[in-house]
Amino acid sequence: MAKNILKTPALLQYILETSSYPKEHEQLKQLRETTIMKYGKMSVMNVPLDEAQFISMLLKIMNANKTLEIGVFTGYSLLTTALALPPHGKVIGIDMDRESYETGLPFIQKAEVEHKIDFIQSDALSGLNALIDGKHEESFDYAFVDADKENFTKYHEVLLKLVRKGGIIAYDNTLWSGSVAMSEDDEMEDITKRKRKIAIEFNNYIANDTRVESTILSIGDGVTLCRVL
Ligand SMILES: C[S@@+](CC[C@H](N)C(=O)[O-])C[C@H]1O[C@@H](n2cnc3c(N)ncnc32)[C@H](O)[C@@H]1O
Repeated sequence: MAKNILKTPALLQYILETSSYPKEHEQLKQLRETTIMKYGKMSVMNVPLDEAQFISMLLKIMNANKTLEIGVFTGYSLLTTALALPPHGKVIGIDMDRESYETGLPFIQKAEVEHKIDFIQSDALSGLNALIDGKHEESFDYAFVDADKENFTKYHEVLLKLVRKGGIIAYDNTLWSGSVAMSEDDEMEDITKRKRKIAIEFNNYIANDTRVESTILSIGDGVTLCRVL
């Protein structure tokens, strides 16, 4: 991954220490620390704290009740969502990897929000398509997409059928460590070059999609919010 140029390390540290760490839920903290111990560098796949706290506030402002998550990993954003939802709220999480979900599950259980979560082990596109069954169309208030970036446009087309008008679809990593603003000639790893191109194409696709109102937030690794029109 490219060096994150969205924020200087000092500024990010300031945000985390002043705002994020003091308010982190105990079970989210333990889930984060366990993920670091088990997955090492891959633990950066968990959404960062400042982004999670933004998502939590957004869900509460929206009074979201029924939500979707594509790309669960060990569940930092999933647990954040479950904690933000009202007592009878629901989040359906889809991921092809059950083991990583089960790594985070004890913390979901200790936080007493397991009843709000339906985990579906599936390829994301098949899992989403299976929800188009007559009872889920236009019923979700919010969807968070944090799986394979290559397929974001495909997920977007299905999500437009599942998320209600006025609901929010949020896409993670749309600034790919700030690389979208770099020049193609700048020195960067091959993987960054490839992901940068995918992010740029997706951002252009959303910018031209008249079915949604959208904005890109430079929080975390970049989050695009789409409000379904
Ligand atoms: C960046 S991680 C998600 C992190 C999570 N939102 C969090 O905050 O902890 C991406 C996840 O997407 C899953 N994933 C990637 N491609 C997928 C696909 N085509 N179908 C289902 N899951 C997929 C991976 O297994 C991985 O767990």
